[in-house]
Amino acid sequence: MTDVLNRVSPGDRARRRRRDRAVVPATALDAFTDVKNVFISTEDRVALRLTGRVAVVTGAGSGIGLATVRRLAADGATVVAVDVDAVTGTAAAQEVGGDFIACDVADEGQVRSLYDEVAGRHGSVDIAFNNAGISPPDDDSILDTGLAAWERVQRVNLTSVYLCCKYAIGQMRRQGRGAIVNTASFVALMGAATSQIAYTASKGGVLSMTRELGVQFAREGIRVNALCPGPVNTPLLRELFAKDPERAARRLVHVPMGRFAEPEEIAAAVAFLASDDASFITASTFVVDGGITGAYVTPL
Ligand SMILES: NC(=O)c1ccc[n+]([C@@H]2O[C@H](COP(=O)([O-])OP(=O)(O)OC[C@H]3O[C@@H](n4cnc5c(N)ncnc54)[C@H](O)[C@@H]3O)[C@@H](O)[C@H]2O)c1
Repeated sequence: MTDVLNRVSPGDRARRRRRDRAVVPATALDAFTDVKNVFISTEDRVALRLTGRVAVVTGAGSGIGLATVRRLAADGATVVAVDVDAVTGTAAAQEVGGDFIACDVADEGQVRSLYDEVAGRHGSVDIAFNNAGISPPDDDSILDTGLAAWERVQRVNLTSVYLCCKYAIGQMRRQGRGAIVNTASFVALMGAATSQIAYTASKGGVLSMTRELGVQFAREGIRVNALCPGPVNTPLLRELFAKDPERAARRLVHVPMGRFAEPEEIAAAVAFLASDDASFITASTFVVDGGITGAYVTPL
């Protein structure tokens, strides 16, 4: 008799589960996820992943930066495109209905005003993708690379990341949250006989600085990760290898997938690291390289 009275139908049980979850969410994120699970399809959930977030992308006018501007905007973020080149930067921002701010990321005054301006205009800085970088032809073997080239590359590739992290973190600490992704490279993890000594050293610096920042600010809700792309199919690379196919073949043999990355594949990793899907990932070396760093012998 008691059994009959206490019996609960499967439908009632599901309704009670939904009600209990809705009444006592463990966190605001649980409540949001719960609502999305009930009403929203998987595709829309991805599209909404960055809704309400303000994302600053440096080097936004070209290559990985441009692909990331498009991807973060598609995922719902308000994007602030930053570049030293006002023409390409403005075009990137206009394409996604975002904002453009001209900035030389190697200049402290400009970076400080950049973050003040973003916070002033948009109210927060939720995502910082510190991606601008150069790889000039006068950076080569240590035997041929002069101090001027060395210093220029360190300033644009490494000092810029220090500055952007410094001012982004200042803002993110006030908010109590934020996600930073710094572009390092697979060359920070592997040696090459075809050296670009200043570039490699600068990316090693980005990698270890990122790890340290990730650890230092982990308990303040700020995640800091380093992205290590393998070689990416950008106009510069295509031009270089069109001139010298042997040079391309020499590199491709090391890539298990047998091709270079598309910028969109790197942008997808940035969108993931910037999102709450990566909520337990910080201080990481996030490798997106088609298997290069894991390879000894590659398929023929
Ligand atoms: N392309 C690759 O194969 C590859 C591989 C690994 C890592 N990376 C890294 O990814 C990042 C982007 O590379 P990419 O191939 O998309 O480069 P890219 O040359 O296509 O774009 C770089 C952008 O940065 C901007 N920029 C340069 N100096 C700047 C400065 N001082 N201030 C503001 N903006 C500046 C340029 O105007 C340009 O729009 C770089 O940090 C690069 O080192 C690239």
